[in-house]
Amino acid sequence: MIDDRTAAPALELDDVSVSYGSRPAVRHASLSVAPGELMALVGPSGCGKSSLLAAINRMTDMVPGCRVSGDIRIGGASVTGQGVSLPLLRRRVGMVFQQPNPFPLSIADNLHFPLREHGIGRRDVRERMVERALRDVGLWSEVAGRLDQSALTLSGGQQQRLCVARAIVLAPEVLLLDEPCSALDPIATASVERLIRDLKGRYTMLMVTHNLAQARRLADAVAVCWVENGCGCVVESGATEHIFTTPGHPVTQAYCQGLAG
Ligand SMILES: Nc1ncnc2c1ncn2[C@@H]1O[C@H](COP(=O)(O)OP(=O)(O)O)[C@@H](O)[C@H]1O
Ligand SMILES: [Mg+2]
Repeated sequence: MIDDRTAAPALELDDVSVSYGSRPAVRHASLSVAPGELMALVGPSGCGKSSLLAAINRMTDMVPGCRVSGDIRIGGASVTGQGVSLPLLRRRVGMVFQQPNPFPLSIADNLHFPLREHGIGRRDVRERMVERALRDVGLWSEVAGRLDQSALTLSGGQQQRLCVARAIVLAPEVLLLDEPCSALDPIATASVERLIRDLKGRYTMLMVTHNLAQARRLADAVAVCWVENGCGCVVESGATEHIFTTPGHPVTQAYCQGLAG
């Protein structure tokens, strides 16, 4: 938990709207995440949570007809303009998806690959970075003896922790997690939750979750999304306990008490 909530935000969404063709998906979303803080993005299916994550790392650029307006800042600098280098942005923003999606390569090569892509040519340097990332996600002791085996031989929870390792191996400033535990069984979920808790304070994280209990267990802050007039929006955000105990918006009250959504 970061005590200093007055620290300049590491990630800010300022009046962000996303549309697909003529159809608005998210309107006027604003939120800010302090350095090292984990914010949970909660809300029912279809309210635009994944679209907001995609706008942050500009995956939306690759969706024909998708338009993003408003400003998104990382470390105070806008990442929405034409002049922004997408390879550099992807290096600054790691992403983990719902379904573990390791490359069909060896465990080690899942991490060597992004390092090589970003120009880290020396194998010994890469090997140190690979070991550090695997230690960071608690996998090193489990896989050190079989780094050359296919990543697809790992269990679901191990695969997801490998995907987190791949997302942090280049030391990003922001880590985006889109329902990282939704496809996992309870034991694997617990191992990934432990990992996310360990990463708090070191990475600024924005995590989509459907699981309100998980949001309450893990997150420093919560943003609640909802669909209003057919379009997603952020109705309220704030410190986790505040959102769960004294929400200001009727939607938050109903959703967080399990009465709606
Ligand atoms: N690639 C796309 N093309 C067209 N519409 C999309 C696309 N992705 C998402 N949408 C629409 O945008 C809205 C928000 O979707 P999404 O961001 O996936 O919400 P969530 O992650 O909260 O379930 C939905 O109505 C969805 O159908
Ligand atoms: Mg989604």
